[in-house]
Amino acid sequence: MVSNVMVLGSANADLVVEVPRRPSGGETLLGSDLHLFPGGKGANQAAAAARAGAATRFLGCVGRDAHADFLLQNLADAGVEVDGVRRGERPTGTAMILLTPDGENSIVVSPGANYSIDVAMAEELAPAWLAADVLVLNLEVPLETVVHVVGRAAAEGVRVLLNAAPAAHLDPVVLQACDPLVVNEYEARIVLGSDREATFEELAADLLAAGARSVVITLGAAGAVVGDADGVEVVPAHRVEVVDTTGAGDAFVGATACELARGANLRDAVRFATAMSAIAVTSKGAQSSYPDRDAVEAFIREAARA
Ligand code: RIB
Ligand code: NA
Repeated sequence: MVSNVMVLGSANADLVVEVPRRPSGGETLLGSDLHLFPGGKGANQAAAAARAGAATRFLGCVGRDAHADFLLQNLADAGVEVDGVRRGERPTGTAMILLTPDGENSIVVSPGANYSIDVAMAEELAPAWLAADVLVLNLEVPLETVVHVVGRAAAEGVRVLLNAAPAAHLDPVVLQACDPLVVNEYEARIVLGSDREATFEELAADLLAAGARSVVITLGAAGAVVGDADGVEVVPAHRVEVVDTTGAGDAFVGATACELARGANLRDAVRFATAMSAIAVTSKGAQSSYPDRDAVEAFIREAARA
């Protein structure tokens, strides 16, 4: 059986400059040559799911410009179906990314066409996303659209993976549709609207208590916390040399969605996704650093032997 992953979300052209450090206000800093990478959380997540082996469709909105052609070509090359992508009047989404020598980044996103995905456009695409085994969404498109789609999809029995990035406070009604909610530590606190001192396990338990059916908190080099009706557990990360963390969380989300659609349980899905994102941080760019399934499986075998 072919497992279907649908991603409704953003596509951005990532304009990346390597800098020795972050500039301060009023400062002009010289950086590297400009790199253009395919990005955007939704497109990245779709590329990762497809590379991991899922039949994947990306639903989004781009402009009528060269960045749009570049992004759609890259998705098609990764094996993602792009016939559901709309072309709007606003420019294709852009992310301005500063990359420092430690592999960390600072990002400013100009959403552009991604913000044209309103409820009406999402409804036109409903036959596609209602056919998903796993429907993936993130918050780089209007929150109102996400709330609508998540609610309707869950009500019709579609499994929803919501990546609450960038961070936003979420209503319990939205959380109740998430199976799983995937967030990093910072996003977990914003989703909950709480700044109380808590361990990662307690944060996961809080998100479950707030309504999420299941939850994954990504912790970067420290791995991920998985929580559901079976309890809360830490899945450790792999040790790798970090070159560029951009889009590593998206690799994780896409790989998790692929595994869930193939019938894996959440813990096994997260184990696979942890390996996929570990490989992704070892080279530059987001989608351009995503390995295929064979490479992930070889990496997991190698790690088991070490
Ligand atoms: O999650 C990484 C992505 O966030 C980048 O590709 C960039 O486009 C921003 O949207
Ligand atoms: Na990378």
